[in-house]
Amino acid sequence: MSEAIEVDISDLPGVGPATKAKLEAGGITTILDLAASTVNELVDNLNITDETAHNLIFESQRILKEKGYLEKDLVSAQELYDRRAKMVRCTTYSNNLDKLFLGGIETQAVTEFYGEFGSGKTQICHTLCISSQLPIEEHGLAGNVLYVDTESTFRPERIAQIAKTRNMDVDKILENIHVAKVYNASHLELIVKALGGLIQQNNIKLVVVDSIISLHRAEFVGRGTLSERQQKLNAIMHRLKRIAEIYNIAIVITNQVQASPDTFFGDPTKAAGGNIIGHASTYRVYLRKAGQERKAIMIDSPCHPYGDTNFVITEGGIGDPDETKKTIPSWKKVPEKAVRKAASSKESDDDKDSEE
Ligand SMILES: Nc1ncnc2c1ncn2[C@@H]1O[C@H](COP(=O)(O)OP(=O)(O)OP(=O)(O)O)[C@@H](O)[C@H]1O
Ligand SMILES: [Mg+2]
Repeated sequence: MSEAIEVDISDLPGVGPATKAKLEAGGITTILDLAASTVNELVDNLNITDETAHNLIFESQRILKEKGYLEKDLVSAQELYDRRAKMVRCTTYSNNLDKLFLGGIETQAVTEFYGEFGSGKTQICHTLCISSQLPIEEHGLAGNVLYVDTESTFRPERIAQIAKTRNMDVDKILENIHVAKVYNASHLELIVKALGGLIQQNNIKLVVVDSIISLHRAEFVGRGTLSERQQKLNAIMHRLKRIAEIYNIAIVITNQVQASPDTFFGDPTKAAGGNIIGHASTYRVYLRKAGQERKAIMIDSPCHPYGDTNFVITEGGIGDPDETKKTIPSWKKVPEKAVRKAASSKESDDDKDSEE
């Protein structure tokens, strides 16, 4: 949707060569980048006055609203509905997970996966790198991928394995994945600022950030730095959400967990990063190990019902548990007689099974 924007930054009122150079130095090369910026970012990082920053952002957002790329201040539900109609869903290759997302990972949204080590966050990201390249008719996004790797866990050989298992052209799949290796928090902030340009230049339809928090968590240690860390994470999340909407792309982030000592009942783990990440993510899914399988739980969504499902990690990436290996969780065990009756009934359906 971004290819139709012909307005250049220098066409905006008050933008001369000096301001243009300052913006470009900060990674802002299009009015889409500008519209996704915050006043504080421009003032603090680019030495632009408060008034100019306000005007530039206001003006770029006005143009984008006029052209239908951004929602107007007041829009009819019909317009919103039409905009949502442009949303595309990308398969995860697991029917169960797709069902949990009512069809797959959405564009115009930030989807967060959080869970403990080995719960499958990186494996889901790797799988999406392949499925998102499928044509729209095959439930892909028909575009390329930008993988922001903050933990050095991106493995091209794993991509090759998944693609090969699925009889896809391995070289082509690998060529279409652009990897940004990020080593510190400010580098991540810079990459996120430059996302607009990268997305446009490389026909990106899926951005993965694995993980969103590890670098900030490692660099901002101690209570005294918490508010600065949260401010920075907030700016990153705010920008990711805007970018997903403006460019109609899917953004998937992973997050770590932390212990929640005030929990007396139930699972004492919660997502790291506090409310800032949770509020800015459109969908928040908690992943847990469940024996050989993994459980995905929809924790927060504006439109999905609360739900959970199981998936597995295989050579082909993410998949569904083998029907024959399905077990009934102990808390849901039913008397032997009822199980036999259910097994003989022709009405037993898959949907009920996968909901566990
Ligand atoms: N080729 C494969 N075939 C089957 N299972 C695999 C394969 N590769 C990885 N796995 C499984 O994936 C698990 C690792 O999952 P993943 O790397 O996605 O965890 P994570 O949630 O990203 O953890 P972390 O928080 O450490 O980053 C391994 O424990 C292994 O069980
Ligand atoms: Mg990982």
